[in-house]
Formats: sequence, C-alpha cells, structure tokens
Amino acid sequence: MRIIRTRDYQELSRAAARLIAAQVVLKPGCVLGLATGSSPVGAYQQLIAWYKKGDLDFSQVRTVNLDEYVGLAPDHDQSYAYFMRSNLFDHVNIDLSNTNIPDGLAPDAAAECARYDEQIRALGGVDLQLLGIGPNGHIGFNEPDGHFSCGTQQIQLTDSTRQANKRFFASLDDVPTHARTMGVRDILQARRVVMVASGENKAKAVKEAFFGPVTPAMPASILQYHPDFVLVADEAALSLV
Ligand code: F6R
Repeated sequence: MRIIRTRDYQELSRAAARLIAAQVVLKPGCVLGLATGSSPVGAYQQLIAWYKKGDLDFSQVRTVNLDEYVGLAPDHDQSYAYFMRSNLFDHVNIDLSNTNIPDGLAPDAAAECARYDEQIRALGGVDLQLLGIGPNGHIGFNEPDGHFSCGTQQIQLTDSTRQANKRFFASLDDVPTHARTMGVRDILQARRVVMVASGENKAKAVKEAFFGPVTPAMPASILQYHPDFVLVADEAALSLV
C-alpha cells in the first residue's frame, strides 16, 4: 500500500487525476474502473481540463463503473449513468459505446450481474480502478458483512449508506433501497487500485480499513492485500492515523 498525503481536496484531486492520466498516456486503450459520489468529482474536473488543453485523449479508453442504483433509468438525474455523463463523459472525447455501467432497470438481477462480470472479463479486466470509501468502509456498494463478496451482485443498501446519500435526493424515501455493484473480488482483480478519501468524516474508516485488521466488517480493509494499491488522502481523512 502506498499513501499519497495531500493538504486538501484540491491537491488530492490533482494527485488522483495524475495517476489516471498517466494510465491513459501509457496505455491509450486502457480499461478504467470508475466511481461516482463526491470524492472523485475534482479528479474528473482536472482530467477534463487537461483534455481541453489537448494533453489527454480518451478516444480509445474503455470504462466500467462500479455500481448503479436499482430502479433508476439512465436519464434519472441521480442515476450513476447520468452522473458519469455530466461529470466526465460529456466533456471529453470518450466513445459512449466504450463505457459500461450496471443496468439498474434490467428485470433479472442475477442475469444482469453475470452479464456485467462477463463484460469486465471480455474487456480483459480493469487496468486502474478508482474508488471512494463509505464512512462505514464500503467499496463500491459492498457493505460491511460476514464475508467478502465475489462478483457483481445486487445488494440492499444499509441505512447508514442511504442516510449518507440522501443529500443528493429530495428525501430519504427517494433514495433507492438496492444497488448493483461490482464485487470485492472484481475490485481486487484490477491491476492497480487508487482510492480517494477526503474529509474528517472518512477519517475513522481510513484508520480502521488500512491500519487495523483485514475483515469483511470493514470491506475496504482487504485492499491491504492488493499488490498495487494507492490511497490518495487529505490531511483531514488521515487525521486519526
Ligand atoms: C460510488 C461508490 C461508493 C462511494 C462512497 C463514497 O460509485 O461506489 O463506494 O465511493 O460511497 O462516496 P462519497 O465520495 O460521495 O463520499
């Protein structure tokens, strides 16, 4: 595990964007595993700025996103498909047919999850997986549990995750109860994993996940075993370490 410690969110975003940009430059047809939520937004803005300056080319990049809410159509403004278009895809020269996100509307959950895992395999696996971390230590939507998950699965969101995400919705009742997420095994199989963690509300999870025992009660902790895991965190997120 390597830690890049930054002063604040802005510096963190540039550091994470540099790692992603380096991957795209080294392998223009790379497979990027992408995350949504607040944490990666600054990194996406930096990537867009470098693209606009002519320094980055996404024309051959392929992407797989971590997760999607069940029941939200891609044009719903809180779906992760919509998030990715408005925060990154619509602003760079990526071919939308090279982007992949679990389908939250597909009626057969098991078939959709199996299709998504097969898609990741068909792409040759993920070169760089970007992650955030939930205040409860979740990665993707793999919530604390008695065991680590394997492939893509449909899960029930915990109350704490629905509470954490209700800031994006009109009310708690509007927050979906289920999501489809890449599994912990999928995430571990990425050749490089980069996590961004910012702010005091992540400090406890960062301490327990990376400076405590590896346990499925703290899903991110398994990244301690990944051979190329980079934690990019600001001082606030590292304040308990
Ligand atoms: C998002 C995802 C989640 C978030 C996590 C942190 O695709 O899979 O694991 O990374 O919930 O969210 P933020 O960044 O909003 O604090």
